[in-house]
Amino acid sequence: MKTALITGITGQDGSYLTEILLKKGYRVHGIIRRSSSFNTGRIDHLYENPDLLNKKLFLHYGDLVDTSNLNRLLEKIEPDEIYNLAAQSHVKVSFQIPDYTAQVDALGTLRFLDAIREVGLKQVKFYQASTSELYGKVQEVPQNEKTPFYPRSPYGVAKLYGYWIIVNYREAYNIFASNGILFNHESPRRGETFVSRKITRAASRIAAGLQKELTLGNLNAKRDWGYAPEYCEGMWRILQHKKADDFVLATGETHTVREFTELTFQQIGIELLWKGKAENEKGYIKSIDLDKAKKLISYSKNKKVYIRDFTSRLKKGEAIVAVDPNYYRPTEVDLLIGDAEKARKILGWKAKTRFEDLVTLMIKADLEKVLKRGF
Ligand code: NAP
Ligand code: GDD
Repeated sequence: MKTALITGITGQDGSYLTEILLKKGYRVHGIIRRSSSFNTGRIDHLYENPDLLNKKLFLHYGDLVDTSNLNRLLEKIEPDEIYNLAAQSHVKVSFQIPDYTAQVDALGTLRFLDAIREVGLKQVKFYQASTSELYGKVQEVPQNEKTPFYPRSPYGVAKLYGYWIIVNYREAYNIFASNGILFNHESPRRGETFVSRKITRAASRIAAGLQKELTLGNLNAKRDWGYAPEYCEGMWRILQHKKADDFVLATGETHTVREFTELTFQQIGIELLWKGKAENEKGYIKSIDLDKAKKLISYSKNKKVYIRDFTSRLKKGEAIVAVDPNYYRPTEVDLLIGDAEKARKILGWKAKTRFEDLVTLMIKADLEKVLKRGF
């Protein structure tokens, strides 16, 4: 039985990766941060699945800024594989807390690699959660493993350090350390302040009458959005390759935030009409198709309540999307589109879920939550 150690186990990716590794028969250890309230919501369901769990999941308090704790954990756990997913992962927030972001995302990676050396874990394999944010002001379209980097945020710059320290320790000390350069990947477990989830959550709440308007920043940014569980399977494949190397994981398709918003509302039967420019732009209800909304929620026991409320509440011509410049970034990444050919050829990995299916599964999940819990 192999042993894996996951940092960031309570995050979106950490939770999916845990499920994948448990299913593959791994013993999984995860590092969680001390918090004043519960922060294990994304992995709690695993405790209701004794077959999967079977005393194979262990949680430890720790933090990437606490070196002595990392050393102790490595000595105790002696993992075969380490997945370093922990990060201050929000790009906009990194402009507000740049020092902390660098401490965790850049130096946190170094602390781990040094702990591996100090403890003398010669055989361990290390996965680093690198990111398409490294490409920033893109120097090439699409972006692949050879595209030069040009990060555009304290987050991107911190992750650039993480990327290169992995390459350096691999070359200097022969540590099996690999970078997964992952493009945006989303899911119903995505944090609520990332744009995809912010949109699907708001749309379901607007439809249910719990929220009046969705307020966004830059509607024209383009992202290559994939489905998170597939990317977590890719992380595992990266560490199963015979040699440490760096891989891009992406869908090869790009869409604007505006398209994500339009498609989300279309899924619940609302056509949007955009009027105005820049911060004065708004999205109005052009038409409402109740049959479409009914189809999407046909699985829900509460659909009658929903449809009744939906018909009476929303009106043609009403503004439901607005722009707030507070969500703009001092420097933006305008366009990301990845070329994952190397991963396809060497690892046999390919993104399967298309943009439209991703949006549909996310809005469905949020609608279901709203209908079940009323928030
Ligand atoms: P996420 O949902 O924000 O999860 C981040 C995780 O890191 C959480 O478990 C968080 O703990 C933990 N964490 C934060 N600061 C920490 C610290 N100082 N010490 C220990 N743990 C800490 O992020 P994600 O979307 O799953 O992404 C996983 C990794 O992939 C991140 O490194 C991210 O930068 C990178 N990445 C993500 C994407 C994407 O599109 N999702 C793309 C490329 C790269 P709490 O739960 O306590 O906050
Ligand atoms: N968060 C957010 N909120 N973003 C908005 C909003 C808003 O209200 N309105 C527009 N956007 C735009 C952002 O300006 C950005 O161009 C795009 O939507 C995506 O923003 P996020 O969903 O916050 O993701 P990100 O691309 O900045 O970063 C994510 O992907 C990276 C990989 O490329 C994060 O998961 C990073 O951790 C990850 O490395």
